[in-house]
Amino acid sequence: MIKKIAVQQLIPGMFVHDMDCGWMEHPFLTGSFKVRSENDVGKMIGYGIQEIYIDTERGLDLIGAPTQGEVESTITRQIAAIVQAPVSIEPATLHEEMARARLVLAEANKVIGDLMHSVRIGRQIEQEQVDHVVGKMSESILRNKDALLSLCRIKEKDNYTFLHSVSVGALLMCFTRAFNLRAGDMEQVGIGGMLHDIGKTMVPDRILNKPGDLTQDEFITMQMHVVYGQNILSDTPGISQTSFDVVAQHHERYDGSGYPLKLKGSEMSIFGQMASIVDVYDAITSNRCYRKAMDPTVALRKMFEWSKFHFDPQLIQAFVRTIGIYPVGTLVMLESSRIAVVIDQQGRDLTRPLVRAIFDAKKGCHITPKDIDLSLPLGQGGGDRIIRHEAAAKWNIDPHQFI
Ligand SMILES: [Fe+2]
Repeated sequence: MIKKIAVQQLIPGMFVHDMDCGWMEHPFLTGSFKVRSENDVGKMIGYGIQEIYIDTERGLDLIGAPTQGEVESTITRQIAAIVQAPVSIEPATLHEEMARARLVLAEANKVIGDLMHSVRIGRQIEQEQVDHVVGKMSESILRNKDALLSLCRIKEKDNYTFLHSVSVGALLMCFTRAFNLRAGDMEQVGIGGMLHDIGKTMVPDRILNKPGDLTQDEFITMQMHVVYGQNILSDTPGISQTSFDVVAQHHERYDGSGYPLKLKGSEMSIFGQMASIVDVYDAITSNRCYRKAMDPTVALRKMFEWSKFHFDPQLIQAFVRTIGIYPVGTLVMLESSRIAVVIDQQGRDLTRPLVRAIFDAKKGCHITPKDIDLSLPLGQGGGDRIIRHEAAAKWNIDPHQFI
């Protein structure tokens, strides 16, 4: 057996298989020989040789020394860790990130749309494509999360299922970032989020897109999407437990009132709990065929209320910290009677974001857009404050035009 040892561990009677120093100049003509004396060892140390491979079938053994195979697999793992280690990512302003986030989101929507179509016709998930696009989403989020998040809020009704899937993936990645979780969890949670409703590909369209209330039977069929999703993931090689938990538990509720297993509190994984929060938030802030979207500020307030039963209150607080009280793209009324759009909240007091005033509510007319940093006093570009959130529909303003 070939084993690796330090040269200081070498003793007469051992057989040197390879001196692991092919690039060094040394006086030994051949790399393999039997050690005759301490003098041989001294010479090797003198020539700066550090580690060598010995052949235990041709000489003495050193119990506990790693085999060549073990050494090689350790090195492979170390290389993989370096390659996969997150590169430090430079933060970007919302304006800088917007164009990149738009491209990433378009790619993610296409990947998930195509994937859902493939699964519907009986093909397996091609996980590489999901991994690749989740990696890009994670980079965008690390540069400036608000770009991707604000774009995710725009959804056409027709493609709701896959737009919602991508949105849940992005939100979950942002949420995960708020915790000191293991490296790689952000991506695994994101993959779970992107695939959380994959089981809906097995639910008939007439139930999926039914505008009215579902009958009891239809509701049971709809709920089956979680079990279908688990089955699809079980048939997909390389899916992590983290991604699986997101899919399996996104409809469970903290008080045990969810489905399919009626899990309670800590019976759910942290990722399942996060997924249940994010899924509800994205669903109620999106326009559906049967109801209008809630503004994020209202939705967060509602979820705070519900957190007594459905969600862990501490996790909800963490989620609000992630999203902000006035998320980017929210319309707000300022004390000066100007209506503004929140355009940046990174690293700020959540009640004093950077806003862009766009409308004079008293005169009822648009004004030349002006950026106001609500954390600063008057004279330094600030001097105003948010009185309340305003419904975009009430003023017929599309806030995203002004970001
Ligand atoms: Fe679902």
